[in-house]
Amino acid sequence: MTVQLGIPAVRGGAARAAGAPAAGPTVDRPQLSGLADRYGRVATDMRLSLTDKCNLRCSYCMPAEGLPWLAKDAVLTAEEIVRLVGIGVDRLGVRELRLTGGEPLVRADLVEIIAALRAAHPDLPIALTTNGVGLDAKAAALAAAGLTRINISLDTLHPETFAQLTRRPFFDRVLAGIEAADAAGLGPIKINAVLMRGINDTDAPELLAWCLERGYELRFIEQMPLDADHGWTRDGMITAAEVRGILGRRFSLAPDPRARDGAPAERFEVRPLAGPADGGPADEVPLGIVGIIASVTEPFCADCKRTRITAEGKVMSCLFSHDEVDLRPFLRSDAGDEAVASLWQDAMWLKPKAHGMDHTGLGAQDFVQPDRSMSAIGG
Ligand code: GTP
Ligand code: 5AD
Ligand code: SF4
Repeated sequence: MTVQLGIPAVRGGAARAAGAPAAGPTVDRPQLSGLADRYGRVATDMRLSLTDKCNLRCSYCMPAEGLPWLAKDAVLTAEEIVRLVGIGVDRLGVRELRLTGGEPLVRADLVEIIAALRAAHPDLPIALTTNGVGLDAKAAALAAAGLTRINISLDTLHPETFAQLTRRPFFDRVLAGIEAADAAGLGPIKINAVLMRGINDTDAPELLAWCLERGYELRFIEQMPLDADHGWTRDGMITAAEVRGILGRRFSLAPDPRARDGAPAERFEVRPLAGPADGGPADEVPLGIVGIIASVTEPFCADCKRTRITAEGKVMSCLFSHDEVDLRPFLRSDAGDEAVASLWQDAMWLKPKAHGMDHTGLGAQDFVQPDRSMSAIGG
């Protein structure tokens, strides 16, 4: 549902509908300097979706037949994107940016967008979440344009399993993309994997070994009810505890001593299992790090610092928001940056306390899957 917060026609009445909406809160909230909410959280991590389109059809996200894409003129333009990021950074305390999709690489002006963002914000960390298809041809240009680092989805090392999960035979292309990103200096390379029971869950240790050998940081993400097919079930998903158990058969995991700092991933240092023959303590130097993102069973909403903008310019204060606030009418009116910033603050002020789908209460039984799939939100 789009909440009509401060849409020009509502805010100023008919007299102001075509003109500049006034700045200032339209919800009952205090004056704020940043993107704060009612529960004391402040969002500094901006996730901006560049498109809802994607060239894969991962079963945990998209239906086989795809989704009706947004019309071209519904999607924010490069200029609107650069303006919005400027408002976030210069007025609202945004300190890091992640560009997402759908699949951001399908956007023809991606390199230009990154170059413009980098020119405007020389020190802003800019990350990209991609499925890696087509990345081999673009990684060097993305790095040259000023992209800081990259997260690439890869759920398995088996081409047939990849084709089953994504419904596309592009395994080799993704591998080439990962290698190109590494060669272009877009590290530390992070790999995102979703485990699906009976399909790729037993692949987890070999995927981790493969990442460790190459110096990539792997994240296992619990499958969330954000699939367009509504096929997610709580019993069907592989939990973080199961992931720890599966990995524990081959590796020893110890909590990473570095502070988590609101990150979705709980990080672990990975060491080889001390075999009965060695008997001794695990090696001092870890092989690397693995992250486990327990969005469902061990939620991290209390420390969330994320604000999301969809490809058509709606603020989603949470991945699971049912309420969205549309900035695009403001961006396309002669409203000033202050008015856009104020509306964005209104939206974030109303951010829900938690998504409520964990086992431990918070209305788990009442959880209603949002209409949007992950591809229409951005990760
Ligand atoms: P870096 O930020 O690069 O260190 O890596 P990361 O693994 O933390 O990446 P990112 O923040 O992109 O999160 C990875 C995945 O975690 C996303 O693709 C989502 O699937 C999930 N995730 C991210 N933010 C949230 C959130 O606010 N709520 C929930 N439930 N899941 C999230
Ligand atoms: N649950 C968990 N992760 C998901 N992703 C896509 N859909 C889901 C889901 N339903 C992941 C993708 C990608 C990132 C953006 O989110 O694998 O790595
Ligand atoms: Fe595309 Fe990402 Fe969804 Fe897979 S998870 S279909 S790569 S948007």
